This record gives sequence, C-alpha cells and structure tokens, in this order.
Amino acid sequence: MENKISKIGVLTSGGDAPGMNAAIRAVVRACVYYKKSCVGIMRGYEGMIEGDIMKLDARSVGNIIQRGGTILKSARSKEFRTPEGRQQAFEHVKKQGIDALIAIGGDGTFTGLHKFFEEHNIPCLCIPGTIDNDLAGTDYTIGYDTATNTAVEAIDRIRDTALSHNRLFFVEVMGRHCGYIAINSGIAGGAAAVILPEESISFDELYAMLGEGGKTNKKSNLIVVAEGSKIGDAHSLAKQVAERSDYFDIKVTVLGHLQRGGSPTYFDRVLASHMGVGAVEGLIKGEFDCMVGIRNKKIVFNKYDDVINRHHDIDSESFRIAKILSI
Ligand code: F6P
Repeated sequence: MENKISKIGVLTSGGDAPGMNAAIRAVVRACVYYKKSCVGIMRGYEGMIEGDIMKLDARSVGNIIQRGGTILKSARSKEFRTPEGRQQAFEHVKKQGIDALIAIGGDGTFTGLHKFFEEHNIPCLCIPGTIDNDLAGTDYTIGYDTATNTAVEAIDRIRDTALSHNRLFFVEVMGRHCGYIAINSGIAGGAAAVILPEESISFDELYAMLGEGGKTNKKSNLIVVAEGSKIGDAHSLAKQVAERSDYFDIKVTVLGHLQRGGSPTYFDRVLASHMGVGAVEGLIKGEFDCMVGIRNKKIVFNKYDDVINRHHDIDSESFRIAKILSI
C-alpha cells in the first residue's frame, strides 16, 4: 500500500565512499520516477542542523555516476549525537516540508538516523555506503569493491619494487574493525600473510613464517595488515621484526585515504543504483527505520537491531584460502 510521502531528503554522512554519487543519482531519479520531490542535505547531519538543503532533480545528478566522493559532501556530526542537535535538525526538516529521509553512510550514520526516527517519527531509511564492508545485513556495502580494487592495484605496484630489492613490505589497509579489505586484497594481491582484526596469527607465528620463507628461497615478502589488527599496526609489526633480526630489509606502506577516492568500479555503481532505487521503493512501501541491503543479489530491508552491534563476519572459507596460499 502506498503511503503519503511526497518529499524525500537525501544525505551522505561519515567517511565518503566511491559510489555514493551513484547512490544519490539513483535516489533522485527514483524520486522523479515515482513523482516525489527530492532535496539534498549538505554535509550529512551538519547540513540538516544548519538547514543547508537544496532541491535536486534528474538533471542535478547528471554526469556523477562515475565520480568518487560525494556531491553532497559528508561529515561526522558531533552535534547530531545530542537530542538538542537532532531537535534543531527536525525544525529544518519540518520547515522544508521533508517527510522522509534517506541517509547514505555507515553504522554511525544509521545510528543517528535511528535515534532521529525514535524521537521524531520521520520515515527514514539508510543505504550502506562505506569502504569497510562492516555492516551485517548486506553482502556488500557501497565503496568496498572499489577500495579493495584500489588496494590490490597498490599492492601489485609495491610487489614490483619489493621483489626488485628483496624486501619485506608491510602494507596497511583500511577497514576500521573489520578485515574485509585486508583479506580480499591479501588473497588477490598474493600476500604472504594477512593480519586481521577477526582472526590472525600471533607475532611469533608471523616471525616463524618469515623464517620458513627464507628457507624455501623466498626473496621478498608482502604482508597485508588490517588497520584494526590486534597484534599491532604495520609500523609496530615492522619494528618488532627489525628488533629480532637484521636479516630483513623492511619497508612500510600505509595506504590510508587513497582507498577512499577514485572512480567507483562497475560493481559499486550497479550496487548503488539498485540500493538507491530500493531505498525509495522501500520508503513508499513503509519500510521505515531500516537499512537496505543486498543478500544473494536481492534487495532486503534490515531493522536497526539486526545491523548495529553485529559483526559482518568474514566466511571461514576466505581464511582457509588465504592460509593455504601464503606459503
Ligand atoms: O569508515 C571508513 C574509514 O575510511 C575507515 O576505514 C577508517 O578507519 C576511517 O574511515 C578513517 O576516518 P577519517 O577519514 O575520519 O580519518
């Protein structure tokens, strides 16, 4: 049954992710298709608090599907974490006649939206946009595929120089508390080991493995370290190895924010397009306080409690494959 939503506000919040623009485009064009008006809220919840809101139509989102970053800009709003901040945002939402919200972002974004829904009862839906792929309830988040491809490309380049100098490289990738980028860039980049927040070898095992590599004539090594590693970040692991042995010529590369930028892959553009349309259709059908997700290629709607505070587990097969291949 169709409800009475006529004006939808869309925003991007938290860390930007490649494909956010494709998602904005899909939301706006789905609104046009379903004869709803759409406004863009700038800088995430900051813009909602300040009333920084602009009208969007089909033409405002032309030529953005291929662009990284977000045309709506993004922020991590401290003020929106307070009831006063959310009340101020609500005043602007009311004034603008916005009767539903779509927020594109990660767990912090969804948590803010959930609180806003509880306090102000505005129909709202979250689209998972984060490179970390750390949200339960969806097989993929927007941006993860691009970021992982970027990491793999960087690893390939580092491997060339590592091999030329017989060096040991520690390459640190993003992902916050989640090892998705690490495990898959590690497998795809042929890493000798992957250090993950979820399950990883101990430092002693890592050190022993490096020694074994020496015995089997392995001249260079590349270790992928997730930023959430529990046995130390790339710099500290490199330091620990150097302290134990002067055999290795060690270098560290922290890929950092370069993983967040760049043109989204085809996969992220298509994912964002499905999720953007899915979000508008979800709101129309009354799927409120949810996160849209993709499960086995189908759009699904997940309630807040089924997403937040749950870990998006990496399948055990990936751990097994990474281990078998790291000799
Ligand atoms: O959530 C995306 C992410 O890039 C994480 O991988 C990383 O831990 C964090 O954001 C970095 O945040 P900031 O851009 O605020 O430094």
